[in-house]
Amino acid sequence: NKSIYILGIESSCDDTSAAVICNGKILSNVVANQEIHTKYGGVVPELASRAHQQNIVPVIQQAIQQANIDKKDLNAIAFTRGPGLMGSLLVGTSFAKSLSLALNIPLIAVNHMQGHVLAHFIDEENQQKPPFPFLCLTISGGHTQIVKITDYFTMEVIGETLDDAVGEAFDKSAKILGLPYPGGPLVDKYAKLGNPLAFKFTKPKMADLNFSFSGLKTGILYFIQKKVKENPNFIEENLNDICASIQYTIVEILFDKLKKAVEKTGINHVAIAGGVSANSEIRKVLKETEHKYGWTTYIPKFEYTTDNAGMIAITGYLKYLDNNFSKDTIIATARLKV
Ligand code: KG4
Ligand code: ZN
Repeated sequence: NKSIYILGIESSCDDTSAAVICNGKILSNVVANQEIHTKYGGVVPELASRAHQQNIVPVIQQAIQQANIDKKDLNAIAFTRGPGLMGSLLVGTSFAKSLSLALNIPLIAVNHMQGHVLAHFIDEENQQKPPFPFLCLTISGGHTQIVKITDYFTMEVIGETLDDAVGEAFDKSAKILGLPYPGGPLVDKYAKLGNPLAFKFTKPKMADLNFSFSGLKTGILYFIQKKVKENPNFIEENLNDICASIQYTIVEILFDKLKKAVEKTGINHVAIAGGVSANSEIRKVLKETEHKYGWTTYIPKFEYTTDNAGMIAITGYLKYLDNNFSKDTIIATARLKV
Protein backbone atom coordinates (compact mmCIF):
# COMPACT_ATOMS: atom_id res chain seq x y z
CA ASN A 1 0.00 0.00 0.00
CA LYS A 2 2.39 2.60 -1.28
CA SER A 3 1.48 6.27 -1.01
CA ILE A 4 1.21 7.89 -4.43
CA TYR A 5 1.60 11.66 -4.43
CA ILE A 6 0.45 13.66 -7.45
CA LEU A 7 0.80 17.40 -7.97
CA GLY A 8 -2.05 18.94 -9.97
CA ILE A 9 -1.69 22.24 -11.80
CA GLU A 10 -4.64 24.21 -13.22
CA SER A 11 -4.23 27.40 -15.28
CA SER A 12 -6.85 27.21 -18.02
CA CYS A 13 -8.63 30.49 -17.38
CA ASP A 14 -8.20 33.09 -14.66
CA ASP A 15 -7.41 31.00 -11.58
CA THR A 16 -3.91 29.73 -10.85
CA SER A 17 -4.21 26.61 -8.75
CA ALA A 18 -2.06 23.77 -7.43
CA ALA A 19 -3.05 20.75 -5.37
CA VAL A 20 -1.41 17.68 -3.89
CA ILE A 21 -3.36 14.44 -3.70
CA CYS A 22 -2.29 11.24 -1.95
CA ASN A 23 -4.14 8.05 -2.95
CA GLY A 24 -7.31 10.00 -3.74
CA LYS A 25 -7.26 12.25 -0.66
CA ILE A 26 -6.57 15.96 -1.12
CA LEU A 27 -3.69 17.20 1.04
CA SER A 28 -3.76 20.77 -0.30
CA ASN A 29 -5.69 22.77 -2.89
CA VAL A 30 -4.44 26.34 -3.29
CA VAL A 31 -6.28 28.74 -5.60
CA ALA A 32 -5.10 32.26 -6.49
CA ASN A 33 -7.96 34.25 -7.99
CA GLN A 34 -7.08 37.07 -10.36
CA GLU A 35 -8.66 40.28 -9.09
CA ILE A 36 -7.39 42.18 -12.11
CA HIS A 37 -10.31 41.15 -14.38
CA THR A 38 -13.04 42.65 -12.19
CA LYS A 39 -12.59 46.16 -13.47
CA TYR A 40 -12.75 45.02 -17.11
CA GLY A 41 -16.02 43.14 -16.61
CA GLY A 42 -14.56 39.87 -17.88
CA VAL A 43 -11.37 37.87 -18.28
CA VAL A 44 -8.69 39.66 -20.32
CA PRO A 45 -6.56 36.80 -21.78
CA GLU A 46 -3.31 38.77 -21.93
CA LEU A 47 -3.62 39.83 -18.29
CA ALA A 48 -4.59 36.30 -17.25
CA SER A 49 -1.38 34.83 -18.73
CA ARG A 50 0.72 37.42 -16.96
CA ALA A 51 -0.94 36.81 -13.61
CA HIS A 52 -0.44 33.03 -14.01
CA GLN A 53 3.23 33.68 -14.71
CA GLN A 54 3.44 35.70 -11.53
CA ASN A 55 1.44 33.33 -9.31
CA ILE A 56 2.48 29.89 -10.42
CA VAL A 57 5.65 29.46 -8.35
CA PRO A 58 4.23 30.73 -5.04
CA VAL A 59 0.99 28.77 -5.54
CA ILE A 60 2.85 25.51 -6.18
CA GLN A 61 5.23 26.14 -3.28
CA GLN A 62 2.28 26.77 -1.00
CA ALA A 63 0.51 23.59 -2.16
CA ILE A 64 3.59 21.46 -1.48
CA GLN A 65 4.16 23.14 1.88
CA GLN A 66 0.53 22.74 3.01
CA ALA A 67 0.63 19.08 1.98
CA ASN A 68 3.58 18.74 4.30
CA ILE A 69 5.66 16.80 1.80
CA ASP A 70 8.90 17.32 -0.03
CA LYS A 71 8.98 17.90 -3.80
CA LYS A 72 11.01 14.71 -4.04
CA ASP A 73 8.06 12.70 -2.70
CA LEU A 74 5.98 13.48 -5.79
CA ASN A 75 5.27 10.58 -8.16
CA ALA A 76 3.86 12.54 -11.11
CA ILE A 77 2.75 15.99 -12.29
CA ALA A 78 -0.76 16.39 -13.69
CA PHE A 79 -1.65 19.58 -15.56
CA THR A 80 -4.55 21.03 -17.52
CA ARG A 81 -3.84 20.63 -21.21
CA GLY A 82 -7.11 22.24 -22.38
CA PRO A 83 -9.68 23.47 -23.15
CA GLY A 84 -9.09 27.06 -22.14
CA LEU A 85 -7.23 30.23 -23.02
CA MET A 86 -4.04 29.39 -24.92
CA GLY A 87 -1.83 31.91 -23.12
CA SER A 88 -3.07 30.68 -19.75
CA LEU A 89 -2.70 26.99 -20.62
CA LEU A 90 0.86 27.55 -21.82
CA VAL A 91 1.99 28.79 -18.42
CA GLY A 92 0.78 25.65 -16.57
CA THR A 93 1.85 23.28 -19.34
CA SER A 94 5.39 24.63 -19.64
CA PHE A 95 5.78 24.75 -15.90
CA ALA A 96 4.56 21.16 -15.49
CA LYS A 97 6.99 19.98 -18.15
CA SER A 98 9.94 21.72 -16.56
CA LEU A 99 9.13 20.38 -13.13
CA SER A 100 8.70 16.83 -14.43
CA LEU A 101 12.11 17.14 -16.09
CA ALA A 102 13.72 18.57 -12.97
CA LEU A 103 12.24 15.93 -10.64
CA ASN A 104 12.52 13.15 -13.21
CA ILE A 105 8.89 12.05 -12.75
CA PRO A 106 6.15 11.45 -15.34
CA LEU A 107 3.80 14.00 -16.80
CA ILE A 108 0.02 13.50 -17.01
CA ALA A 109 -2.10 15.70 -19.28
CA VAL A 110 -5.64 16.33 -18.06
CA ASN A 111 -8.73 17.52 -19.91
CA HIS A 112 -10.25 20.32 -17.82
CA MET A 113 -13.83 19.19 -18.49
CA GLN A 114 -13.04 15.62 -17.46
CA GLY A 115 -11.46 17.11 -14.36
CA HIS A 116 -14.70 18.88 -13.42
CA VAL A 117 -16.56 15.55 -13.67
CA LEU A 118 -13.92 13.44 -11.92
CA ALA A 119 -13.82 15.83 -8.96
CA HIS A 120 -16.62 13.55 -7.74
CA PHE A 121 -14.03 10.83 -7.11
CA ILE A 122 -11.98 12.79 -4.60
CA ASP A 123 -12.08 10.94 -1.26
CA GLU A 124 -14.13 13.05 1.13
CA GLU A 125 -15.97 12.17 4.29
CA ASN A 126 -19.77 12.02 3.88
CA GLN A 127 -19.38 12.33 0.12
CA GLN A 128 -20.77 9.50 -2.03
CA LYS A 129 -19.06 8.68 -5.30
CA PRO A 130 -21.35 8.18 -8.30
CA PRO A 131 -21.59 4.63 -9.68
CA PHE A 132 -21.18 4.01 -13.42
CA PRO A 133 -22.94 4.87 -15.59
CA PHE A 134 -24.04 8.30 -14.42
CA LEU A 135 -25.00 11.62 -15.98
CA CYS A 136 -23.23 14.86 -15.17
CA LEU A 137 -24.48 18.36 -15.89
CA THR A 138 -21.20 20.23 -16.29
CA ILE A 139 -21.86 23.94 -16.09
CA SER A 140 -19.20 26.62 -16.08
CA GLY A 141 -18.22 29.97 -17.52
CA GLY A 142 -17.16 28.32 -20.75
CA HIS A 143 -19.26 25.15 -21.00
CA THR A 144 -22.74 23.71 -20.59
CA GLN A 145 -22.85 19.98 -21.16
CA ILE A 146 -24.81 16.91 -20.23
CA VAL A 147 -22.25 14.13 -20.14
CA LYS A 148 -22.82 10.39 -19.94
CA ILE A 149 -19.97 8.78 -17.99
CA THR A 150 -19.48 5.04 -18.52
CA ASP A 151 -16.14 4.76 -16.73
CA TYR A 152 -13.44 7.21 -15.58
CA PHE A 153 -12.19 7.81 -19.09
CA THR A 154 -15.24 7.09 -21.24
CA MET A 155 -17.40 10.18 -21.45
CA GLU A 156 -19.93 11.16 -24.07
CA VAL A 157 -21.46 14.62 -24.42
CA ILE A 158 -25.16 13.97 -25.09
CA GLY A 159 -26.24 17.61 -24.96
CA GLU A 160 -24.51 20.98 -24.97
CA THR A 161 -25.00 24.66 -25.55
CA LEU A 162 -25.00 25.87 -29.12
CA ASP A 163 -24.07 29.42 -28.09
CA ASP A 164 -23.41 30.95 -24.64
CA ALA A 165 -22.51 28.86 -21.61
CA VAL A 166 -24.79 29.03 -18.58
CA GLY A 167 -22.06 30.81 -16.58
CA GLU A 168 -22.01 33.48 -19.28
CA ALA A 169 -25.79 33.78 -19.00
CA PHE A 170 -25.37 34.49 -15.29
CA ASP A 171 -22.40 36.82 -15.75
CA LYS A 172 -23.86 38.77 -18.68
CA SER A 173 -27.20 39.18 -16.92
CA ALA A 174 -25.31 40.48 -13.90
CA LYS A 175 -23.41 42.90 -16.09
CA ILE A 176 -26.68 44.27 -17.52
CA LEU A 177 -27.71 44.89 -13.90
CA GLY A 178 -24.47 46.77 -13.25
CA LEU A 179 -22.98 44.05 -11.05
CA PRO A 180 -19.20 43.35 -11.14
CA TYR A 181 -17.59 40.32 -12.81
CA PRO A 182 -18.08 37.44 -12.19
CA GLY A 183 -21.71 38.18 -11.41
CA GLY A 184 -22.97 34.60 -11.06
CA PRO A 185 -22.42 34.36 -7.28
CA LEU A 186 -24.06 37.79 -6.81
CA VAL A 187 -27.16 36.81 -8.77
CA ASP A 188 -27.33 33.74 -6.51
CA LYS A 189 -27.00 35.94 -3.40
CA TYR A 190 -29.68 38.52 -4.36
CA ALA A 191 -32.00 35.84 -5.72
CA LYS A 192 -32.28 34.40 -2.21
CA LEU A 193 -34.20 37.53 -1.18
CA GLY A 194 -36.39 37.85 -4.26
CA ASN A 195 -39.56 36.47 -5.83
CA PRO A 196 -38.67 34.06 -8.66
CA LEU A 197 -42.05 34.60 -10.32
CA ALA A 198 -41.91 38.43 -10.28
CA PHE A 199 -40.82 38.69 -13.93
CA LYS A 200 -41.20 36.23 -16.74
CA PHE A 201 -38.47 35.60 -19.30
CA THR A 202 -38.91 33.52 -22.43
CA LYS A 203 -37.21 30.13 -22.47
CA PRO A 204 -35.59 28.97 -25.72
CA LYS A 205 -37.17 26.17 -27.71
CA MET A 206 -34.33 23.78 -28.38
CA ALA A 207 -34.51 20.33 -29.92
CA ASP A 208 -32.89 17.29 -28.31
CA LEU A 209 -30.72 17.79 -25.26
CA ASN A 210 -29.02 20.96 -26.48
CA PHE A 211 -29.11 24.36 -24.84
CA SER A 212 -29.14 27.98 -25.98
CA PHE A 213 -28.66 30.97 -23.70
CA SER A 214 -27.98 33.89 -26.05
CA GLY A 215 -31.68 34.60 -26.63
CA LEU A 216 -32.33 34.76 -22.91
CA LYS A 217 -29.52 37.27 -22.47
CA THR A 218 -30.97 39.49 -25.23
CA GLY A 219 -34.45 39.13 -23.74
CA ILE A 220 -33.17 40.27 -20.35
CA LEU A 221 -31.29 43.19 -21.91
CA TYR A 222 -34.37 44.50 -23.79
CA PHE A 223 -36.60 44.01 -20.75
CA ILE A 224 -34.24 45.95 -18.48
CA GLN A 225 -33.70 48.74 -21.04
CA LYS A 226 -37.47 49.18 -21.42
CA LYS A 227 -38.09 49.20 -17.66
CA VAL A 228 -35.24 51.61 -16.94
CA LYS A 229 -36.64 54.00 -19.55
CA GLU A 230 -39.94 54.05 -17.64
CA ASN A 231 -38.25 54.20 -14.23
CA PRO A 232 -34.54 55.02 -13.90
CA ASN A 233 -34.47 53.34 -10.46
CA PHE A 234 -36.04 50.12 -11.72
CA ILE A 235 -32.93 47.98 -11.15
CA GLU A 236 -32.18 49.24 -7.63
CA GLU A 237 -35.80 48.91 -6.58
CA ASN A 238 -36.20 45.38 -7.95
CA LEU A 239 -32.73 43.83 -7.87
CA ASN A 240 -33.67 40.83 -5.73
CA ASP A 241 -36.77 40.03 -7.79
CA ILE A 242 -34.92 40.43 -11.08
CA CYS A 243 -32.10 38.13 -9.94
CA ALA A 244 -34.55 35.56 -8.57
CA SER A 245 -36.52 35.59 -11.84
CA ILE A 246 -33.43 35.24 -14.02
CA GLN A 247 -32.08 32.41 -11.87
CA TYR A 248 -35.47 30.68 -11.86
CA THR A 249 -35.57 30.76 -15.67
CA ILE A 250 -32.01 29.42 -16.02
CA VAL A 251 -32.68 26.63 -13.52
CA GLU A 252 -35.87 25.65 -15.41
CA ILE A 253 -33.96 25.51 -18.71
CA LEU A 254 -31.27 23.29 -17.17
CA PHE A 255 -33.64 20.89 -15.43
CA ASP A 256 -36.02 20.55 -18.41
CA LYS A 257 -33.09 19.09 -20.34
CA LEU A 258 -31.69 17.08 -17.47
CA LYS A 259 -35.08 15.41 -17.03
CA LYS A 260 -35.15 14.61 -20.74
CA ALA A 261 -31.63 13.17 -20.51
CA VAL A 262 -32.65 10.86 -17.66
CA GLU A 263 -35.72 9.71 -19.61
CA LYS A 264 -33.72 9.15 -22.78
CA THR A 265 -30.82 7.23 -21.19
CA GLY A 266 -32.66 5.50 -18.36
CA ILE A 267 -29.79 6.58 -16.08
CA ASN A 268 -30.97 8.25 -12.89
CA HIS A 269 -27.67 8.75 -11.11
CA VAL A 270 -27.18 12.45 -11.71
CA ALA A 271 -24.24 14.68 -10.79
CA ILE A 272 -23.47 18.36 -11.27
CA ALA A 273 -20.03 19.88 -11.77
CA GLY A 274 -18.31 23.11 -12.79
CA GLY A 275 -18.35 26.64 -11.39
CA VAL A 276 -22.10 27.17 -11.81
CA SER A 277 -22.80 24.02 -9.76
CA ALA A 278 -21.91 26.22 -6.78
CA ASN A 279 -25.30 27.89 -7.34
CA SER A 280 -27.50 27.32 -4.30
CA GLU A 281 -30.77 27.01 -6.23
CA ILE A 282 -29.32 24.47 -8.67
CA ARG A 283 -28.02 22.42 -5.73
CA LYS A 284 -31.39 22.63 -3.99
CA VAL A 285 -33.45 21.71 -7.06
CA LEU A 286 -31.15 18.78 -7.86
CA LYS A 287 -31.51 17.48 -4.31
CA GLU A 288 -35.32 17.72 -4.61
CA THR A 289 -35.30 15.36 -7.61
CA GLU A 290 -34.43 12.57 -5.18
CA HIS A 291 -37.92 12.31 -3.72
CA LYS A 292 -39.65 13.93 -6.70
CA TYR A 293 -38.36 11.60 -9.42
CA GLY A 294 -36.33 8.99 -7.53
CA TRP A 295 -32.96 10.16 -8.81
CA THR A 296 -29.77 9.64 -6.85
CA THR A 297 -27.82 12.87 -6.90
CA TYR A 298 -24.17 13.83 -6.43
CA ILE A 299 -23.30 17.38 -5.45
CA PRO A 300 -19.62 18.33 -5.19
CA LYS A 301 -18.15 20.23 -2.26
CA PHE A 302 -17.92 23.98 -2.96
CA GLU A 303 -14.14 24.03 -3.28
CA TYR A 304 -14.30 21.50 -6.11
CA THR A 305 -16.93 23.33 -8.18
CA THR A 306 -15.14 26.43 -9.51
CA ASP A 307 -11.78 25.94 -11.20
CA ASN A 308 -9.30 24.24 -8.88
CA ALA A 309 -6.30 21.93 -9.16
CA GLY A 310 -7.83 19.32 -6.84
CA MET A 311 -9.94 18.10 -9.76
CA ILE A 312 -6.83 17.96 -11.97
CA ALA A 313 -4.93 16.06 -9.27
CA ILE A 314 -7.65 13.39 -8.85
CA THR A 315 -7.83 12.93 -12.62
CA GLY A 316 -4.04 12.66 -12.65
CA TYR A 317 -4.17 10.05 -9.90
CA LEU A 318 -6.76 7.96 -11.78
CA LYS A 319 -4.67 8.20 -14.94
CA TYR A 320 -1.56 7.24 -12.96
CA LEU A 321 -3.26 4.04 -11.78
CA ASP A 322 -4.21 3.45 -15.42
CA ASN A 323 -0.58 3.95 -16.53
CA ASN A 324 -1.76 6.74 -18.77
CA PHE A 325 1.20 9.12 -19.02
CA SER A 326 1.98 11.87 -21.51
CA LYS A 327 5.01 12.37 -23.71
CA ASP A 328 7.25 15.36 -22.97
CA THR A 329 6.39 16.74 -26.40
CA ILE A 330 2.71 17.20 -25.50
CA ILE A 331 1.26 20.65 -26.24
CA ALA A 332 -1.57 22.70 -24.76
CA THR A 333 -4.78 22.83 -26.81
CA ALA A 334 -7.33 25.64 -26.52
CA ARG A 335 -10.05 23.37 -27.95
CA LEU A 336 -10.19 19.90 -26.51
CA LYS A 337 -13.19 17.57 -26.59
CA VAL A 338 -14.23 15.57 -23.51
O1 KG4 B 1 -15.71 26.38 -13.64
P1 KG4 B 1 -15.45 27.84 -13.49
O2 KG4 B 1 -14.74 28.31 -12.25
O3 KG4 B 1 -14.60 28.38 -14.68
C1 KG4 B 1 -14.76 27.94 -16.00
O4 KG4 B 1 -14.20 26.86 -16.34
O5 KG4 B 1 -15.49 28.64 -16.73
O6 KG4 B 1 -16.85 28.59 -13.64
C2 KG4 B 1 -16.95 29.97 -13.48
C3 KG4 B 1 -18.42 30.39 -13.65
C4 KG4 B 1 -18.62 31.90 -13.74
O7 KG4 B 1 -19.46 32.15 -14.83
C5 KG4 B 1 -19.30 32.22 -12.42
O8 KG4 B 1 -20.17 33.35 -12.48
C6 KG4 B 1 -20.09 30.96 -12.18
O9 KG4 B 1 -19.19 29.93 -12.54
N1 KG4 B 1 -20.53 30.81 -10.78
C7 KG4 B 1 -21.83 30.89 -10.39
C8 KG4 B 1 -21.85 30.73 -8.99
N2 KG4 B 1 -20.55 30.57 -8.56
C9 KG4 B 1 -19.76 30.62 -9.68
N3 KG4 B 1 -22.96 31.07 -11.10
C10 KG4 B 1 -24.12 31.09 -10.42
N4 KG4 B 1 -24.21 30.96 -9.08
C11 KG4 B 1 -23.11 30.78 -8.33
N5 KG4 B 1 -23.20 30.65 -7.01
ZN1 ZN C 1 -13.83 25.13 -15.35
